[in-house]
Amino acid sequence: MKQNEIMKILYDVQHPAKGDRNIVELGMVDSIETEGNRVTVTLAFSRHRDPLAEYLIGSTKAAIIRHAPGTEVEVRTVIRDEGAKKQTGLNLGTEELDNVKYIIGVASGKGGVGKSTVAVNLAVALARLGYRTGLADADVYGPSVPKMTGTEEEMPEAYKEGDKEVIMPLEKYGVKWMSIGYFARPEQALIWRGPMACNALKQMILQVRWGELDFLLIDMPPGTGDIHISLVHDIPLTGAVIVSTPQAVALADVEKGVNMFRNESIRKPIFGLVENMAWFTPAELPENRYYIFGKDGGAKMAEKYGIPLLGQIPLVQGIRESGDDGDPAALSSGPEGEAFILLADKLAKAVVTDQKPDKD
Ligand SMILES: Nc1ncnc2c1ncn2[C@@H]1O[C@H](COP(=O)(O)OP(=O)(O)O)[C@@H](O)[C@H]1O
Ligand SMILES: [Mg+2]
Repeated sequence: MKQNEIMKILYDVQHPAKGDRNIVELGMVDSIETEGNRVTVTLAFSRHRDPLAEYLIGSTKAAIIRHAPGTEVEVRTVIRDEGAKKQTGLNLGTEELDNVKYIIGVASGKGGVGKSTVAVNLAVALARLGYRTGLADADVYGPSVPKMTGTEEEMPEAYKEGDKEVIMPLEKYGVKWMSIGYFARPEQALIWRGPMACNALKQMILQVRWGELDFLLIDMPPGTGDIHISLVHDIPLTGAVIVSTPQAVALADVEKGVNMFRNESIRKPIFGLVENMAWFTPAELPENRYYIFGKDGGAKMAEKYGIPLLGQIPLVQGIRESGDDGDPAALSSGPEGEAFILLADKLAKAVVTDQKPDKD
């Protein structure tokens, strides 16, 4: 068993006195050590002789034995004084981002427009252009990076450095990847309430040893809710790109996204709009373009909100298939690969020129 697999199991251990909240969410999991088929979990309690300690130890063992038969489980406890406030996600500094030049949020007004597809392929394309690139999958409600990069079976290493927990990103296709999907099963993340989701995704960004990067892309959750506001406040974003499909109905969603970044208290530049599924091209007729969601929708939106149209990505079967296979289309030498390379180049240019010191 790997540490993150045990972690996933521990989300199922609920604290009977704290509603439906689980021990991970409550910050009670102090450490997980694994060696062969032995697992040692240390649970942190805030007071001696917690009347529920015995029960939680038993319940932790039961969850692990049930989900990982044959594992030898030991559960230890530590007392953590309240003042130390070692709860997950709290008091995280931004020092792991110190050597990242540009942090770009990839946002969309709603789900299913291809935000993750664009984010993953944009990251791969930036890396192909020689930029040191990372991607943090902050879509706690639908993490897709593990699948889209074929890293579902992998586990990011985590270790303690002093009293700080550091997570190492995975590396593949020349990109550093991190996702909440490596630590929680999708159905678990779905039931997290706001604060838990916020903390989890901040950890996915602030506790990760990104090292020196030119670009860190953040695949943001769809929508424009509290999570976004909190994220944008706590992560020093350089700016954002917005992904949309060309339909007129998507216009209202794009508007919400634009307004979020232009909000008084946020004021982050929007580097441009990416029009995904701009047209359909069948593999056997590569010259043909069918504008099934309407033509020039992206250009009109971009003009309406005064942001550049950064790129247009066609709807092609290869993009969907490569996403499902964990083999991003941006690696290909065909037209899909080219579309993402062009997009990456335009984004880099927009970001770098916006950053010029003589511009405000
Ligand atoms: N340009 C495209 N061509 C073909 N399929 C696409 C394209 N963009 C996205 N898809 C597919 O659409 C689905 C939703 O995309 P996804 O990136 O997960 O959306 P989001 O992150 O916005 O929810 C996925 O199955 C993906 O493979
Ligand atoms: Mg997604």
